[in-house]
Amino acid sequence: MPGKLMRVLITGGAGFIGSNLARALLRRGDEVVVVDNLSVDGSPARLDDVLHRIRFCHGDIRHREDLAQLPSGPYDLIFHLAASFANERSLALPTQDLLTNAQGTLSVLDFARGAGCGLLVYAGSSSSYGAAPLPLREDSLIAPTTPYALTKLLGERYVEASGLPFAVFRLFNVYGPGDPPGPFRNAIPNMLRLLGQTDQPLQVFGAEATRDFSFVDDVVAVLLEAHRARGRVLNVASGIETPILGLARRLLALLRQPEARLQLCPPRPWDTVSRRVADTSALRALFPDACSTPLEEGLLRTAHWLRRAGFLPPETP
Ligand SMILES: NC(=O)c1ccc[n+]([C@@H]2O[C@H](COP(=O)([O-])OP(=O)(O)OC[C@H]3O[C@@H](n4cnc5c(N)ncnc54)[C@H](O)[C@@H]3O)[C@@H](O)[C@H]2O)c1
Repeated sequence: MPGKLMRVLITGGAGFIGSNLARALLRRGDEVVVVDNLSVDGSPARLDDVLHRIRFCHGDIRHREDLAQLPSGPYDLIFHLAASFANERSLALPTQDLLTNAQGTLSVLDFARGAGCGLLVYAGSSSSYGAAPLPLREDSLIAPTTPYALTKLLGERYVEASGLPFAVFRLFNVYGPGDPPGPFRNAIPNMLRLLGQTDQPLQVFGAEATRDFSFVDDVVAVLLEAHRARGRVLNVASGIETPILGLARRLLALLRQPEARLQLCPPRPWDTVSRRVADTSALRALFPDACSTPLEEGLLRTAHWLRRAGFLPPETP
């Protein structure tokens, strides 16, 4: 597979990880088809610079008739990234979560079988581990605690049972350029925007809270080499347990804000999993240098993108 020009479909390719992946695939010369219902942005804005080089299809993975409109196969690779994201949204919109992440995944698998697919790559989630013992290993006992955690796991199971060649990557907290702030979106862009655009306190929920962050370019680098993980379920993470309090302090320093803006709050009732870190030994056996961008560097690049995208005010000298 490596070295050969590939025909690739990305579901959810207008989203954060998908748009970064689309660019990386184009750089290596692949032919890229994207299907996305634009439920996050309302437009394929994050693909603006490459839209003329990809085949973009405005469609919904829940609707088989939309998938039937996609260019016919076979596809060397199908990256199934479209999802209703993430835990908090799934509590507010459980039906959307179920229909997109479960039924939508079944439709994508049917499409893949019909079109022909060399490898189906599924973006699973570390949320699915729930409160399993740390560090989280691929064979840890899984105990999902939110609808999203459950439906992302269901998606994994459908993929494994599909009869298609597959690779499942359980992504931990991914951050970086292309991830906009907003309701139900990720902590890092939302914390940066709050610091840059408001005088509100920066709330951290729970003194014990930790997460395992990986920079989006590092995640994309693994996805590009997905064939190495054929038939496997793999964590994709740095393996570094970062306290959220420490992260908040770094963000304050990055935007030159006083520590007094930090406000420690009790954990949110729905967020029953306070600590999360991956065991990355299986990942490193296949991808020795995976997910190694230092957090400091990744945060700088994230803030730079947020500035360029207008989510942060221009830097003052
Ligand atoms: N970002 C993370 O930290 C993270 C962590 C673990 C797992 N994941 C998984 O990685 C994948 C990509 O995540 P992301 O951060 O890029 O999310 P995202 O929300 O930025 O992108 C998802 C894309 O899917 C599209 N979409 C949603 N419903 C759709 C539907 N019914 N039909 C077609 N398109 C639809 C959205 O419009 C969006 O462009 C998801 O499957 C997510 O569960 C992400």
